[in-house]
This record gives sequence, structure tokens and C-alpha cells, in this order.
Amino acid sequence: MSLYSRRLPWSFSPNSFTRLIDGKRRAGDPVLDLTISNPTEVLSPYPHAQIGEACASIADLTYRPHPLGAESARNEIARLYGTYGVALTPRQIALTASSSEAYAMLFKLLCNAGDEVLVPVPSYPLFEYLAALECVRTVPYRLAYDGSWFIDFHSLRKSLSPQSRAIIVVNPNNPTGSFVKAAELVQLLDLTLDRDIAIISDEVFMDYPFQEDALRVPTLAGQDSILTFCLNGLSKMAAMPQMKLGWIVTSGSAAQRESACERLELLLDTYLSVSSPVQAALPELLKIGKENRRKLRQTIAANLRALKTELTGQPVHVLQSEGGWSAILQLPHISSEEIWATRLLQEENVAVQPGYFFDMASEPYAVVSLITPEETFTEGIRRIRRLAGEY
Ligand SMILES: Cc1ncc(COP(=O)(O)O)c(C=O)c1O
Repeated sequence: MSLYSRRLPWSFSPNSFTRLIDGKRRAGDPVLDLTISNPTEVLSPYPHAQIGEACASIADLTYRPHPLGAESARNEIARLYGTYGVALTPRQIALTASSSEAYAMLFKLLCNAGDEVLVPVPSYPLFEYLAALECVRTVPYRLAYDGSWFIDFHSLRKSLSPQSRAIIVVNPNNPTGSFVKAAELVQLLDLTLDRDIAIISDEVFMDYPFQEDALRVPTLAGQDSILTFCLNGLSKMAAMPQMKLGWIVTSGSAAQRESACERLELLLDTYLSVSSPVQAALPELLKIGKENRRKLRQTIAANLRALKTELTGQPVHVLQSEGGWSAILQLPHISSEEIWATRLLQEENVAVQPGYFFDMASEPYAVVSLITPEETFTEGIRRIRRLAGEY
């Protein structure tokens, strides 16, 4: 018996890779960090004053909580989806402090202890934690690569069980950068039609496509055949993770939406975790966020060009990708990912994320952040090329 809950089965000591980076930093070695995912550290200049002014100009801070969030803020988000061509009512929108919190709420809404949610692999490593903390099991389904990424429906079908309560899609996915295609959505809806199962579509990177493509489904919001929850928030779309505002858009038939919304309302009322100032400042934050996004997209485009310039004809291959903040590099198959990542750090002072962080099916891969400042990124990629070129 332990004093603590079995929901926290993980080791609390940092992994060898984190220890190595910490050691480098303590020794004062100038590490080129290609793992950076915090936009407040990469946008230069970051609009601190503008965000401060947006919050300072709020005239009324009387506390009038609504479980789904302030109606004015939800109207603003409905207007935003209008610009994507999706008509929503404010009742379909529920505010949360973050997408992570949205997952916690949705797992509470949909799952009993021991139930299962299907998660794409490779994808966001936090799913395992978010699910386990709600006593829910993650069951992987495969994303396959044959020059571009696609959902392996054979694997998805095999992963379904009577305990499956939700299928998570990440659109576009992290780190593969793959969007859900219209033909895939048809198959997905088909698969879920006669089951008590919902779709959770994580769309936090939807505003970062590399190019337009009519075959993609930019958002699942507004589809009316299956109960679907779309997640987004200021963290990525406005480059403001510190403001702590995310949202859930509920779609499906009118009856499905209402039965989910009344339960979500009760769940969210129990916590009321979104601060009033961020809700009041939302219209202004979305405007500032648009410019942040434009600058990040510029950096991403420059870094994609650098990958092409530096790695064409080299033994490091960039996997095809369509959007998001990451790129996956396939390294020469002469050693394990662990050894590659360690050598890059020790010999070239370059930090990358090994593919196994995201459960890549084979190795060796390195995941690099496309929001890394351009000079650091290009120099980091040159050093990866140099080490790989020794073989
Ligand atoms: C796919 C995906 N979803 C959600 C998040 C976290 O979003 P938030 O900051 O809103 O919790 C991340 C963070 O990297 C992510 O990669």
C-alpha cells in the first residue's frame, strides 16, 4: 500500500537526456535549443506591453461567473469560427484554462474509471498523463507514413473495444504535422456512427498550415452527425500560453449537443477556473494574437526553407509535413535515437527531442521545433548535418 494514489505511477527523477541538458547549462555551454515550444521566449519583441494594456483597460472586475464562461467571450469565439465558415451558438462553446484542462473535463464527462480513449501514435506525449490522472486508459492507433502521413484505419478499428469512449484526433498532429483529410473524416464518422463514442479533435495548431490544401478538414467544429468536441485556445493560436484561456466547441445533433452541454456546465461550474480578466480582454488579445501568429508563421516558413537548403541531398531526411510547430528528421540508421540525441548534445551542443518522446514506431528520428529563432535553427541544422555527414 502507498500513501499516494495509483494515478501517479511515474518516476519523479529527470530522464538521462534532461539531466544532460541541465548539466550543459550549469557548465555554461551555449546549447542551441531546437526543442523550444514556448512562444513567449521566441517572439522578439514579444508584445508584453500590449497584453498588459489589454488587461489594464478592463473597467469592471465584478465577479459574475458563468459555468461555460462569459457570454461576451463566447460570442467572440463564435465570431472567430464564423471567419472559418462555421456557424456556432455561444452555448456550443465552453471556456477552460487550457487544452489540458479541456481534456480533463472531457474525460470526466465521457469516461468511467477504466474506460478507454483512442490516441494517435505518434503524437502528443501528454495524453498518457492527462488520461491516467482521470483513471482512463489510452489505447494507441497508428498514424502511418508512406511519404505522407495518414490514419491507419485497420489499426483504429482493432483498437476499438466496448470500453472505448472517445477517439482523439490531433488536427494537425504534433509532431507529424498531418491534417485530417476529408476522405478520412468520412471513414471516421462511419466507424463511430453506431457506437456510444465521441470524437475529440485537438485543433490547437490549426492556424499554422504550411500551405493551403482543399483536401484537408481544417476543423471538425460544426459537423452534426457525431458528438464531437474541438479544442483550441490562446496558447498556440495567439502565442499566449501564459494567459490561460482555452475552449471546447461541442458539435453533433441538437440533442447530443444539449445533453453534453448541460453536463459540461455542471462540471465546469464545480471549478470555475477561467479568470475574469482574460475573458474580458479576449477581443483585444485575439487582435494581438493575430500579429503574433503572423510572426510565428514567418519564422516557421524561414525554418522550412532552411531545412530544404541545408538538408537536400544529405543523409538527414525531413519527413513530409503539412503544418504545426515541429519537423521530424530521419537520421542515418547507424545508432539509436538515444545515442544520436546524446552525441548531438555532447559533441555539437544541439538539443533535439528524440522520436521516442512521441512514440515514433521506428528510429532514429529527431524532432525539431520550427518556432526556434531562425539563426539558431539554421546553425543547429548545419551541426546535425555535420555530425550525420561523418558517416
Ligand atoms: C497537440 C497539443 N495539444 C495541446 C497542447 C497544450 O495546449 P495548452 O497549452 O492549451 O494546454 C499541446 C502543447 O504542445 C499540443 O501539442
